[in-house]
Amino acid sequence: MSKDTAKLSFSGGEHEFSVREGTIGPSVIDISSLYKETGAFTYDPGFTSTASCDSQITFIDGDEGVLLHRGYPIEQLAEHGDFLEVCYLLLYGELPTKTQKEDFDFRVTRHTMVHEQMNRFFTGFRRDAHPMAVMCGTVGALSAFYHDSTDISDPHQRMVASMRMIAKMPTIAAMAYKYHIGQPFVYPQNDLDYASNFLRMCFAVPCEEYKVNPVLARAMNRIFILHADHEQNASTSTVRLAGSSGANPFACIAAGIACLWGPAHGGANEAALNMLAEIGSVDRIPEYIERAKDKNDPFRLMGFGHRVYKNYDPRAKIMQKTTHEVLGELGIKDDPMLEVAMELEKIALHDEYFVEKKLYPNIDFYSGITLRALGFPTNMFTVLFSVARTVGWIAQWKEMIEDPHQRIGRPRQLYTGAPKRDYLPINKR
Ligand code: SDX
Repeated sequence: MSKDTAKLSFSGGEHEFSVREGTIGPSVIDISSLYKETGAFTYDPGFTSTASCDSQITFIDGDEGVLLHRGYPIEQLAEHGDFLEVCYLLLYGELPTKTQKEDFDFRVTRHTMVHEQMNRFFTGFRRDAHPMAVMCGTVGALSAFYHDSTDISDPHQRMVASMRMIAKMPTIAAMAYKYHIGQPFVYPQNDLDYASNFLRMCFAVPCEEYKVNPVLARAMNRIFILHADHEQNASTSTVRLAGSSGANPFACIAAGIACLWGPAHGGANEAALNMLAEIGSVDRIPEYIERAKDKNDPFRLMGFGHRVYKNYDPRAKIMQKTTHEVLGELGIKDDPMLEVAMELEKIALHDEYFVEKKLYPNIDFYSGITLRALGFPTNMFTVLFSVARTVGWIAQWKEMIEDPHQRIGRPRQLYTGAPKRDYLPINKR
């Protein structure tokens, strides 16, 4: 608690609110008693100045472009970490010892298969259904198969559901992709690491041996780490709100997937690549920069701007490096998309509109180029984001459920509708 307080003079009264300081970052003014004391609500659509919870999982300094997971810089985790190691860190707060890591890997690996009857879910979708629609449907349906891990009041069931979600998301994502392209499902293989298993389930075919390229597997592992968690973003807040009502974890994750799909959020990686394809060549960039600045044109530079980062998204820098590694490994010399992306970034970072509004590339700007080079179609990009973000959603959901102060989330509103009026019979309207 800070010795500081916040004083408010309002409708003839003086009100004082306590201020709480975090480990690092902005303090918060605790206004939970504001309505009781003043009869007024705060107003903050989009929650630009609102902290919805305490959390110890992720810290972002948007002005400095800093991202920490349990205190560890994303640059170090992406460079040295393994995705399941980062999952353990996000879930339990510390990097695992060798024994803890082996046990965690074993438990996750042995939950990677899905109930065989889930295969039938996919046949209900059109082949050309967007894979994110398939993910929303099938992940939400997991609670119909795993009744023994839906009681959120039981810590053991919460742990089992968490393992199942982290383990089964890659399998379901790969199944959504295989169904989409009309190829048979590929079962997970327990002797492969998480990223390698995922690549094999997506790209192996029964007709030949699939050999995992270690450079691409390492890139996939790093892409998962970069997307694992990001504080109280829209989809994580959706998962927390759904979880606050006591909904089962599978339903909460399905809600997170639905929110992530939006082009302003996780859908931006798909939208960014489609935008680069539409721009097509470097000489057309100025036309699109002008459109992005035109208030009357809904076009925005997808993959640019961020609610929190007013500096370069640290993940975008690592993503750009990974893009060059993957293109290099695959012998892709002059990818026109990459050429447009790099020129677009260069121009935008020197354009006064973007400088003044502090619009920098975010994680979605380069990820699409890398994922396309890895062999994924554009409509699978947000699916991959959801696979990685599942651990963040689960860790944040777990933190909320275990918070003794947590209550159901229930915001209020400023009512601007009609005042009370009486019903009129239809012949009098
Ligand atoms: C993710 O929250 C997270 O942490 C999300 C995420 C995560 O890991 O979970 O980081 C993942 O969602 C990254 C963001 C991906 N979205 C995009 O790349 C879509 C394009 N970006 C924008 O739609 C926008 O920047 C947002 C949605 C990301 C942020 O929106 P804000 O914070 O509400 O900012 P804003 O829309 O109010 O923009 C501020 C100004 C506006 O101009 P003015 O009204 O002040 O004149 O900047 C302009 C906007 O018009 N602007 C852009 C722009 N983004 C903002 N102008 C052109 N192109 C853009 N991309």
